[in-house]
Amino acid sequence: MKIHVVNHYQDMSVKAAELVAEQVKDKNDSVLGLATGSTPEGMYSRLVKMHQEEDLDFSAIRTFNLDEYLGLGPDHPQSYHFYMHQHLFHHINILQKNINIPDGKAIDAETACRDYEESIVNEGGIDFQVLGIGGNGHIGFNEPDTSLSAVTHVVELTEKTVKDNSRFFDSEEEVPRKALTMGMGPILKAKKILLLASGEGKSEAIRATVSGKITTQVPATFLQLHPKVILILDKEAAKLI
Ligand code: GLP
Repeated sequence: MKIHVVNHYQDMSVKAAELVAEQVKDKNDSVLGLATGSTPEGMYSRLVKMHQEEDLDFSAIRTFNLDEYLGLGPDHPQSYHFYMHQHLFHHINILQKNINIPDGKAIDAETACRDYEESIVNEGGIDFQVLGIGGNGHIGFNEPDTSLSAVTHVVELTEKTVKDNSRFFDSEEEVPRKALTMGMGPILKAKKILLLASGEGKSEAIRATVSGKITTQVPATFLQLHPKVILILDKEAAKLI
């Protein structure tokens, strides 16, 4: 694991955008695995700037998002479809056909998960995976549990995640209780992984990710098994390592 500790959120975002841009320039048809949440917002805004001012070219880039709330359609302001278009896709030259996000409105969610998994495999897997981390050590929506699923699946969100994510909704009741998430398989098979974390609320999860025992109760600890993981942390997130 390579760990960069930077002073502030903004520095984390700039450094992360530079690494994504490097990947995009090195392999212009890269498959990027993308994350949502508040953490990567600054990185996306920097990438948009790089596209607008430096012609960073996404025309052959393919993307797979980690997850989506079950029950939220693309027009719902808290859906990850909405988020991704608002923060990135609307502002860059990516082709709509190259964007993949699990379908929160799928009539048959299990089939949608299987199809999603197949598409990842058909595209050759993820070249560069961007991750945030939940306060409980979840990645994507792979929640702490007695076992973890390797493939894309429907997951029940934990109380903590519902509570943490309720800040984006009008009330806790409105937070969907289920989601579709990429499993640990394609994440760990990604050629490179970049994990971002900011703020003290992530410090315990980061400590476990870096040096804790590998356990399904903290899914991010599995990153210890991957040969090419980069962590970019601000000082608060790094305070326990
Ligand atoms: C959600 C997402 C995760 C994300 C996490 C952290 O639960 N499913 O992919 O990493 O939130 O979010 P934030 O960056 O807002 O702290």
